[in-house]
Amino acid sequence: MFELEIKHCPTIIYRPIRPSDLQVLELIHASLFPVRYDIDFFLNVVNGLGIVSWGAVDVSRSDGHIDELIGFVTTRINAVKESEIQNLLRYDTTRNDQTLVYILTLGVVEQYRNLGIASSLVREVIKYASSISSCRAVYLHVIAYNLPAIHFYQKMLFKLVRRLSKFYYINGYHYDAFLFVYYVNGGQSPCSMREVLAAVAAYLRGLLSILAGKIWNGDCKKRSRWSRCKETNSHLVAQNKRIPYSDTAIC
Ligand SMILES: CC(C)(COP(=O)(O)OP(=O)(O)OC[C@H]1O[C@@H](n2cnc3c(N)ncnc32)[C@H](O)[C@@H]1OP(=O)(O)O)[C@@H](O)C(=O)NCCC(=O)NCCS
Repeated sequence: MFELEIKHCPTIIYRPIRPSDLQVLELIHASLFPVRYDIDFFLNVVNGLGIVSWGAVDVSRSDGHIDELIGFVTTRINAVKESEIQNLLRYDTTRNDQTLVYILTLGVVEQYRNLGIASSLVREVIKYASSISSCRAVYLHVIAYNLPAIHFYQKMLFKLVRRLSKFYYINGYHYDAFLFVYYVNGGQSPCSMREVLAAVAAYLRGLLSILAGKIWNGDCKKRSRWSRCKETNSHLVAQNKRIPYSDTAIC
């Protein structure tokens, strides 16, 4: 189906997915994902039934398959009120028409990776979500061991908002998932009072630690070499403890 190696400089075009893509779409999903999608999913994708998708093709392929998918992204619109991230959003709670774009699947065949194709596909999704005035965010789940995808979404400035324990059940095993969100149209929730207090506390601890370090440095000159080393170590430990605390602040 695909060239084993691409020896040319590809010219990638992005287009909607259509009925003629059905077979290739199924094949790529089967080769990229550990879960099997049923035929209804693919029929809905290629016919645009409740699913909005984009495909990537290489129009400079030497084997003539210039209209064959080499990458795709599939999405669905979900209602904010029925979503698991409604408490992470800024939206008008009196309105029922607020929406989100959920990324169902994203993939690029191996030979075409690291060329920026997934980035372009996800940028299409973000552009689409931003163009819907009721839309507040794009979100998705990634299985916790999929490091390339995790790096990818972080690079695309998606925010990792939650780790969901045992979210996936695949072939008799449970796997955690990470929930990523990209806010659009002012969808980012303001900080809660708890988060503001946590940030202030982390800042004050940092300040205290610097002051303590300065006092210590002055005092240090009067002490023996052994006692200086010992105390310096404990100061470092205190600083390190601060790092995970400030990292866990949500906003
Ligand atoms: C994840 C995936 C879609 C990335 O596609 P891609 O077209 O290669 O991605 P891009 O070229 O746009 O990569 C952009 C960034 O993602 C990150 N990235 C992509 N592949 C990576 C890898 N193998 N390891 C670490 N980071 C990676 C990098 O930060 C990269 O930016 P850089 O090249 O400037 O370092 C692709 O690896 C894939 O199809 N994987 C299998 C299916 C899958 O896991 N889908 C996602 C879950 S639904």
